[in-house]
Amino acid sequence: MIECQNLMKIYKIDEEHEVIALQGLDLQVEKGEMMGIIGSSGSGKSTLLNMLGGLDRPSAGKLTVDGKDLLRISDRELVKYKLETVGFVWQNNARNLIPYLSAIENVEMPMLIKGRHKRSRAQELLEMVGMGHRLKSKLGSLSGGELQRVAIAISLANQPSLILADEPTGSVDGETADVILDVFHRLNRELGVTIVIVTHDTQLTNKMDRVVAIRDGKTSSEIVRLSHFLKEEQEADEDQQAETHVELAVLDSARRIQVPEEYLEAIGITNTNKVRMEVENGKIMIKNPSE
Ligand SMILES: Nc1ncnc2c1ncn2[C@@H]1O[C@H](COP(=O)(O)OP(=O)(O)OP(=O)(O)O)[C@@H](O)[C@H]1O
Ligand SMILES: [Mg+2]
Repeated sequence: MIECQNLMKIYKIDEEHEVIALQGLDLQVEKGEMMGIIGSSGSGKSTLLNMLGGLDRPSAGKLTVDGKDLLRISDRELVKYKLETVGFVWQNNARNLIPYLSAIENVEMPMLIKGRHKRSRAQELLEMVGMGHRLKSKLGSLSGGELQRVAIAISLANQPSLILADEPTGSVDGETADVILDVFHRLNRELGVTIVIVTHDTQLTNKMDRVVAIRDGKTSSEIVRLSHFLKEEQEADEDQQAETHVELAVLDSARRIQVPEEYLEAIGITNTNKVRMEVENGKIMIKNPSE
């Protein structure tokens, strides 16, 4: 579904200043996958989502989504792409909800824009996200979690093949976050829609099969559910409380990896940019050169 290679995004702030928000990011997402993206503030998560959603254009590299080349796509095709291929869910609903319309009218809005409007489908979507009992409610009367579920129904209005969610549980409590995640899981299972969720929430990432970590505009590591590697009997041997996920470093297209700052500090690498690297007993060792 998503093929992203050496993706760059440079924002020009003024004549002399620019920010490199993505610096050679690699990412692959399979059709029908539901995965997470984490990373500290400013690491480039929203920038990546904006590129994937066609809200902004990448500066260089390769990016195809659902077979469409988002670096070469024409402006006209991009409008169609945003309307038909992707659906967005934001932390702050104000961006895609109209407060003086009812829940069902809000879901119908993107259908109207596309010119294919069906009340029954809007109702179906609201039922799917567990809001079937509040079809006619004005949005002002709904709670944060309920609004978020309406926002998910809206994102599905035009049957997108990809849902992009930026901090969808950022402004709700833990229990509501669980409900919202369950909704995403159901949509993923029942509609087969590919879902990419940006989150800070470890409660959410624990429930996903794959989470990609971004550091300084590059994919640095992937947290993958252990069962993807282990045979079932091996897994059964483990303590019930054993870790369910394992973190893997990502090799980029030039075979580089990022070494976490805390690992370097742990071996005393603070004011040098050199380490010793050797293969020892089938392992690659990174050592302090003064060792
Ligand atoms: N439109 C823009 N113009 C200039 N710089 C931008 C723009 N959008 C993002 N940036 C910069 O790009 C970098 C990445 O920003 P981005 O919003 O992608 O981070 P993020 O990982 O989503 O952070 P957060 O977790 O705080 O939402 C930051 O340094 C940010 O200041
Ligand atoms: Mg962000």
